[in-house]
Amino acid sequence: MVRRIHHVGIAVRRLEEAYGFYRDTLGLPLLREAVVADQGVRAALLGAGESEVELLEPVDPAGGVARFLARRGEGLHHLCLEVAAVDTLVADLRHRGVELIDVVPRVGLAGRIAFLHPRACAGVLVELVTPAGGLTAPPSPLQLKRLVVGAREPHRAAERYRMLFGLSEVAMNGGPRIMLAAGQETLLLVPADEVGGFEGLVALSMVAEDAFAGVVAALDRAGAKFLRGAGEVTVEPASSHGVHLHISRHRFP
Ligand code: CO
Repeated sequence: MVRRIHHVGIAVRRLEEAYGFYRDTLGLPLLREAVVADQGVRAALLGAGESEVELLEPVDPAGGVARFLARRGEGLHHLCLEVAAVDTLVADLRHRGVELIDVVPRVGLAGRIAFLHPRACAGVLVELVTPAGGLTAPPSPLQLKRLVVGAREPHRAAERYRMLFGLSEVAMNGGPRIMLAAGQETLLLVPADEVGGFEGLVALSMVAEDAFAGVVAALDRAGAKFLRGAGEVTVEPASSHGVHLHISRHRFP
């Protein structure tokens, strides 16, 4: 049912400043930018391999993103899953009594979209999209790899994601963490206790492959704060607009 993670949305105070990190330092190509009045944002989509990163700056102080920033500060805001036919799926979810923000899909920056209520998705604000299509994304030095989600009960959350979106487990290991596949990308559900009791989106992982050394050099040049590991770096949220960002050389360990 779900083809892939279409994008991850990041709430930022100022788009221009966020471009300094996501476009200029990480090198993600800007695909498009527009004011989406009914969401109260100026939004930008940047390429990240098969997926995209969406930066959201509030333009309406009463809008959802402005309230999110006031409450939580900058950081991961929502997860968007690409589906073949958003209207059919939303009608089905509505029929099943799933709590929706948009009971009828509308036009967003990425295509025809609808948001589900975080209460329906284990604390994560989930957007569904059927893209307008036609555009081929330019190459990006980084590809989206994984989103980490804190869940009070990861197994129940996984069951929920399976039931709503048809996401299935990558590997059954019987442990407290569960990995779900969404196209090439994955969602890693971890017990909220492991991430300071936090429920919802907690971290973003990207893979750099051949661009790894260049990306690390760019982080250095930009004065970003990050921890170096073997073939991986973890950027501190203070340098990445509130996002716990992990960049690895390889997709698989
Ligand atoms: Co979005």
